[in-house]
Amino acid sequence: MTREQKLDELRRRHAEAEEGGGKERRARERAEGKLAARERLILLFDEKTFEEIDKLVEHRCQDFGMAEQRVPGDGVVTGFGKINGRLAYAFAQDFTVFGGSLSEANAAKICKVMDLAMKVGAPVVGLNDSGGARIQEGVASLAGYADIFLRNTLSSGVVPQISAIMGPCAGGAVYSPAITDFTVMVKNSSYMFVTGPDVIKTVMHEEVSKEDLGGSMTHNSMSGVAHFIARDDADALALVRELLSFMPQNNQGDPPRLESRDPADRRDEALDTLVPIEPDKPYDIKEVITRVVDDGYLVEVHEHFAKNLVVGFARLAGQSVGIVANQPAVLAGCLDINASVKGARFVRFCDAFNIPLITFEDVPGFLPGTQQEYGGIIRHGAKLLFAYAEATVPKITVITRKAYGGAYCVMSSKHLRTDVNFAYPTAEIAVMGPEGAVNIVYRRELQKAEDPEKLRREKVQEFRERFANPYIAAERGWVDAIIQPRDTRPKLIAALQMLDSKRDTLPPKKHGNIPL
Ligand code: HXC
Repeated sequence: MTREQKLDELRRRHAEAEEGGGKERRARERAEGKLAARERLILLFDEKTFEEIDKLVEHRCQDFGMAEQRVPGDGVVTGFGKINGRLAYAFAQDFTVFGGSLSEANAAKICKVMDLAMKVGAPVVGLNDSGGARIQEGVASLAGYADIFLRNTLSSGVVPQISAIMGPCAGGAVYSPAITDFTVMVKNSSYMFVTGPDVIKTVMHEEVSKEDLGGSMTHNSMSGVAHFIARDDADALALVRELLSFMPQNNQGDPPRLESRDPADRRDEALDTLVPIEPDKPYDIKEVITRVVDDGYLVEVHEHFAKNLVVGFARLAGQSVGIVANQPAVLAGCLDINASVKGARFVRFCDAFNIPLITFEDVPGFLPGTQQEYGGIIRHGAKLLFAYAEATVPKITVITRKAYGGAYCVMSSKHLRTDVNFAYPTAEIAVMGPEGAVNIVYRRELQKAEDPEKLRREKVQEFRERFANPYIAAERGWVDAIIQPRDTRPKLIAALQMLDSKRDTLPPKKHGNIPL
């Protein structure tokens, strides 16, 4: 072959790679509202910054007529570029090429970008759209998956990893997104399950649609497997870009600091009346959060899952913070299994990536009931406790109202080496609510009393006066300051700036044993 012929061949193969699985399959994809793999990457990265690598890699399978079917790139587009001006790596599976299925060669392409990302310390974004392990390749494709899972695990806590599910993601393939830090699912076009509807029908005699079994809402609201739901492909990619803007490049760096035009000394009088004085009256903690953070902007994580706990990213004076807040408007803000798991994972993410934690606490305790006890609230609740105790990033807590029982300890109390603990004057710190306490402590007296209701009222009042305030904790130094709600933002910013150079460590160990 002459040099000219070689160049022609190269050009032809480059063009073929861009074509993917051909016009027909591409048209089918478009009709389903899906973007092509390369279009997705163009939207993910800053304009004209995406650099593709391994465009000409092909599979090596000789069986089942595969030798005659080779598409340059082999069904996954990989490379690097800039997201919000910072380096990031990505791979995008191309469903038009063998259903985006994972071959030995295309797993090696994915592993290559993951390895590069670890070497230079930059995030990895995976755009998943695949029929799973390439059936024709047998164990070679399974090995490819395992190679990716290993890298997901080793990268965890070193570089941020984000998955977007933009088509099918089934079988063992789901475990790669599951190990990454955040999973975004696209409404109506994505699904995830370990075993699909057909197997379920055969084995369990249960009929369930793909959407009900593993659609975006199922995983956002029921299983908690996914953290975000996007309207369409473009929305999902914008969300990934936004999420990365809160994160450092790796665990050795700090998140980017933005200029904030929201004044650091802004006070908000509406906060003074937002938390009701009545202990059982619900209110929306998100209103407190948005009145405090820069520009009222909160990117909620797991918005549809365990709504009794709100977690998400925001900024204070331009600095990224992770917000964890009990939500009194749902289940009175009680902590249950799902809320504990949701909170623990978020706390650990923020801790791994140097994002300070701001906790808003209004919690009457752990949710009682056999369902919770049988489900293991003990070990799940312990996850949140463990995560907070282990976290060494700056930690600041604001008790807005109730801080009862074990939940007081768990929700970033001073005892878990939280740096600054504030309380509103409405805060109540006690072993339990006054009614519950009286029923236990005065059980006998109440049984014998002529007017048990009168006695109960008196004792409840006595307990309320004694414990339903933040002063005892403040006298012991477990609350650093009782603040006026209107001052929350300036107080938090001052505390955050004071903690800027915080250094804290864990005792030397291989790793802890979080109660999984
Ligand atoms: C090879 C595959 C493939 C696969 C799809 N294709 N999945 N090729 N290996 N795993 C090919 C199809 O042959 C077809 O090729 C093209 O991709 C599109 O597939 P369709 O079936 O036409 O598309 P659709 O109707 O949209 O259905 C999509 C699908 C279905 C639901 C994903 O293809 C499917 O069920 N695929 C198999 C899924 C599966 O069981 N995978 C293994 C999971 S186990 P043509 O040439 O016609 O376009 C697994 C283990 C991982 O992944 C283990 C890790 C530890």
